[in-house]
Amino acid sequence: MIRKLFEWLGFAIPKDDEWQEPKGELIIRPMTYSDLDEVVRIERMCFGWGGWSKSAFASELKRGQKSCFMVASINGVLVGFAGWRQEGDEAHVANIAVHPNMRGRKIGELLLRAILEEAVRRGLNSSLLEVRKSNLIAQNLYCKYGYKVLTIRRAYYQFPIEDAIVMKLEDIKANLESVAPPQIKAKIIAPNQRLKG
Ligand SMILES: CC(C)(COP(=O)(O)OP(=O)(O)OC[C@H]1O[C@@H](n2cnc3c(N)ncnc32)[C@H](O)[C@@H]1OP(=O)(O)O)[C@@H](O)C(=O)NCCC(=O)NCCS
Repeated sequence: MIRKLFEWLGFAIPKDDEWQEPKGELIIRPMTYSDLDEVVRIERMCFGWGGWSKSAFASELKRGQKSCFMVASINGVLVGFAGWRQEGDEAHVANIAVHPNMRGRKIGELLLRAILEEAVRRGLNSSLLEVRKSNLIAQNLYCKYGYKVLTIRRAYYQFPIEDAIVMKLEDIKANLESVAPPQIKAKIIAPNQRLKG
């Protein structure tokens, strides 16, 4: 009870001790403002105090067509998210995370694919991102999609301080076409579909 209060006040990193795995269809859809409490909860679990605040996510959503943030949800429970913002003619992947209890099931990969496909639809065909030097899992995911190391930014991250590897993906479209999509059932709702619906 006290722990939940501290979590709610932002003084404790959330933990899902009583996590019950959601069952049902995996849906990848655009992020909305009403997702942000759950998004920030996953963000805290994944990145601790170095993670983004609710207002940081809200500012990204306010960019409209200059950003694309999507979530993965199962039966109404948010299990991950990913997003980029447009910088020049590049999609800068600014955030990606999957709930710790839901990793290794291709949710991160589906999210990355979905946001990169949206970049191509919006006419952006290259992408940039930063990743912690020690984060080999995320680097594997990015390498799988053709990202290459561009440079190192010293002490880029805090909590704890660490170098960032800057990775760049040229020709998103060709790289997406060269990787077979994960063979898991999911419904992908692209941002333009939501606007029409
Ligand atoms: C990085 C992250 C989003 C990956 O999501 P995920 O759903 O667990 O990953 P997937 O199941 O979709 O795996 C896709 C690819 O990622 C890589 N990967 C995933 N788990 C891995 C592991 N345990 N070891 C090595 N590579 C791994 C592999 O390349 C994998 O492709 P493969 O299965 O064909 O080998 C997830 O680990 C996460 O949320 N991490 C914490 C937040 C974070 O570090 N974000 C990145 C910030 S730059």
